[in-house]
Amino acid sequence: MNVFVETYGCQMNEYDTELIRAILGKEGFAFIKDELAADVVMLNTCAIRENAHRKVYGRVHEIHHAREGKPVLVGILGCMATNLRKELFENRGLKIDFIAGPDSYKHLPDLIRTAAATGEKPFDLTLSEFETYSDVYPAREKGVNAWIAVMRGCNNFCTFCVVPYTRGRERSRTVENVVGEAARLAAEGFRQITLLGQNVNSYHSEGKDFADLLEAVSRVKGIERIRFTSPHPKDFPDRVLDVVANNPKVCKQIHLPLQAGNNRVLGLMDRTYTKEEFLELAAKIKAKIPGVTLSTDVIAGFPTETDAEFEETLDVLEQIRFHSAFTFKYSERKGTIASRQHPDDVPEAIKTERAVRLTDIQRRITLERNKEHVGRTQPVMIEAIGTAKSGEETQGRTDGNTIVILPGTGYTPGEIIPVRITAATVSVLKGEAATEAACPA
Ligand code: 5AD
Ligand code: SF4
Repeated sequence: MNVFVETYGCQMNEYDTELIRAILGKEGFAFIKDELAADVVMLNTCAIRENAHRKVYGRVHEIHHAREGKPVLVGILGCMATNLRKELFENRGLKIDFIAGPDSYKHLPDLIRTAAATGEKPFDLTLSEFETYSDVYPAREKGVNAWIAVMRGCNNFCTFCVVPYTRGRERSRTVENVVGEAARLAAEGFRQITLLGQNVNSYHSEGKDFADLLEAVSRVKGIERIRFTSPHPKDFPDRVLDVVANNPKVCKQIHLPLQAGNNRVLGLMDRTYTKEEFLELAAKIKAKIPGVTLSTDVIAGFPTETDAEFEETLDVLEQIRFHSAFTFKYSERKGTIASRQHPDDVPEAIKTERAVRLTDIQRRITLERNKEHVGRTQPVMIEAIGTAKSGEETQGRTDGNTIVILPGTGYTPGEIIPVRITAATVSVLKGEAATEAACPA
């Protein structure tokens, strides 16, 4: 059978799609790029915010419409699957044939065959305390960067977040297993690895923690850069910071989700840190890791958040001056603690206004941050050759994860070269290959 899969949401979902391709590929399913030629269309969905949901409903209708009556099996995978099984099946207007949650992908071949043979609507949404897919080698697209999920699930239960319900409890892969995968990736030509987990600083396996894992992966020959996402600001281990500071292969880049700047709101979110503790942590990170690139996530309009409380979020952005920030309007998720305890009472217009202010302020800071690079020479890892309309440009990335555009095409993906930055916009840096050695920060 021919299969077409589409992925929504975060990098973990992208990674899961690679697992799915490996699992189904082994059983003789072929992945194709032409949706209309597929026997099976699967949507690997995201449940984190309402707009991600809505898109999927629209897509299911679109898939059937485009077929003009020709049969196709439609499957819903990922986080919406766990959260919305009943709704998905009971919604008569929605033609769905099978459903699989994030811990059930090994059963996908059976689910698809059953759906095809019987017309039943099979599903598997069991959440496992053990499944890490450590025995599956993902079918990745060729490139420079490979993701490895080193842990799955989350035990934090931040009150706004649906992830602990859709992805279940936290579990980690062994260091040995992750290092084995990294070595295989290096042999296949990958040069950068991004370690993924919902909360990487609680990674633990056989007495080893996340700092141990970073060190172990950095010893893999051929892997030149290591990134990770995301740590939780509570209990941030100093040892992880030391590894980031001292290990040349670990990028000096940390995503540190703030969510809100006011202590009452942080308390309602159950983030377990205060504004002051967060500011202190950011200061410590900057002191330990000179030139570090910091990014964050912020939610606007959590229930009962007042204007004055929201101002404190802006204040934290101004004080820390993150290199980038992802801003989200609060979106009530079914089943979460917030949905039961705190009615979604901030009007949509106010959420939008706050999100716009956040974005405007962050755009200014990001531009200022990017401009700091101009005139400096930086190590840039080459990612793609022949970008831009003309096909005459090359794209790479700084250690801090900012995109750099270079003129010309005479480069090799994966090589790291010194680049003198000549110009900056909010989204990219422009540069030219330099002959002098790059300064590390
Ligand atoms: N509403 C809005 N944003 C959310 N996020 C998670 N849950 C919600 C929600 N219910 C954001 C958080 C998180 C990022 C991945 O998505 O900022 O860090
Ligand atoms: Fe959600 Fe909080 Fe876990 Fe992040 S740490 S996945 S925000 S519950």
